[in-house]
Amino acid sequence: MKFKKMEQPSSHETGALSPACQRDDMISEPGLRPMSLSEYIGQDQLKKGLSLFIEAARRRGEPLDHCLLHGHPGLGKTTLAHIISRELGVGIRCTSGPVIERPGDLAAILTNLQPGEVLFIDEIHRLSPSVEEILYPAMEDFQLDLIIGQGPSARTIKIDIPRFTMVGATTRAGLLSPPLRDRFGVLLRVDFYPVKHLQEIVGRSAEVLGIKIEDDGAKEIAKRSRGTPRIANRLLRRVRDFAEIKAKGTINREVADMALKMLEVDEKGLDRMDRQILSIIITRFRGGPVGLDTIAVSVGEESTTIEEVYEPFLVQEGFLHRTPRGRMATDKAYKHLGISKEE
Ligand SMILES: Nc1ncnc2c1ncn2[C@@H]1O[C@H](COP(=O)(O)OP(=O)(O)OP(=O)(O)O)[C@@H](O)[C@H]1O
Ligand SMILES: [Mg+2]
Repeated sequence: MKFKKMEQPSSHETGALSPACQRDDMISEPGLRPMSLSEYIGQDQLKKGLSLFIEAARRRGEPLDHCLLHGHPGLGKTTLAHIISRELGVGIRCTSGPVIERPGDLAAILTNLQPGEVLFIDEIHRLSPSVEEILYPAMEDFQLDLIIGQGPSARTIKIDIPRFTMVGATTRAGLLSPPLRDRFGVLLRVDFYPVKHLQEIVGRSAEVLGIKIEDDGAKEIAKRSRGTPRIANRLLRRVRDFAEIKAKGTINREVADMALKMLEVDEKGLDRMDRQILSIIITRFRGGPVGLDTIAVSVGEESTTIEEVYEPFLVQEGFLHRTPRGRMATDKAYKHLGISKEE
């Protein structure tokens, strides 16, 4: 049976700022994961709703409604799934869309659940259609429709499965099929984090890892983490290495700044690839609009990587506009790169 840990390194294991999970994250992340909603920093709106639903389900002694978590990589979806099961006081089974190859795999998982348990499916947008169909009656009526036999004599039998809570996570909510999306009662969107919350996350992780850090050092790392806790934790570890060798182990603003300069992460949190993308749009295409594929070829990167890894943050921070005719560099991008705009 396939209950695999889902966080495999993705194809974009590139710079220090890739929000996707890398090998050293996989080693240190479990220890850094907050275990309860009260330890989970930020996302106040989401936490408020979620704690209410959890409390209500607990009081009624019923499983929580199915929850869909969506947000960019590294923002804390897997962490939340584990927190949900803990707060409910039930077990969690973890799997992921691409791992469940056949409908039978999913049927086996579902029939083996304990009553009330959480089934966490990561990358749920990558389930195959035939597997998805098994999920519809399972989520709605806690039943499986099994087909026995073949051809004209085939018949369907229904079997009951334990009531459970499905928690799905996706970085691409838009790719989820409408019938699947409609079966989630609770939709939770995880957003990029403001500096204030990332600073708290860096402070907390430093404490867990036994790293000495001053407030201004934590703030400097937070400011350059692209709104993403996973990146904040990763930069913290890299800056620690630098501090141990060059600065007697304590991280302050100056040490963080020197270390991050060395990693080519600038004061807005952009790395070399981000700057290259903006600079190509500005210098070769007069600021755009220019198509995603053209940008990808020009910088020598896959278009999906640009779209999923680099673009969301550039758009969120107002360096890039997405228009129907292509991508455009904003005034802020010109200013950041120190290029003046010709009229
Ligand atoms: N709100 C938070 N407070 C403290 N730490 C957090 C928070 N959210 C995430 N983290 C930290 O960031 C790391 C990455 O989070 P997580 O693995 O849950 O992201 P994810 O959304 O599942 O990413 P992916 O889409 O790549 O699977 C965790 O190990 C955790 O330490
Ligand atoms: Mg995850």
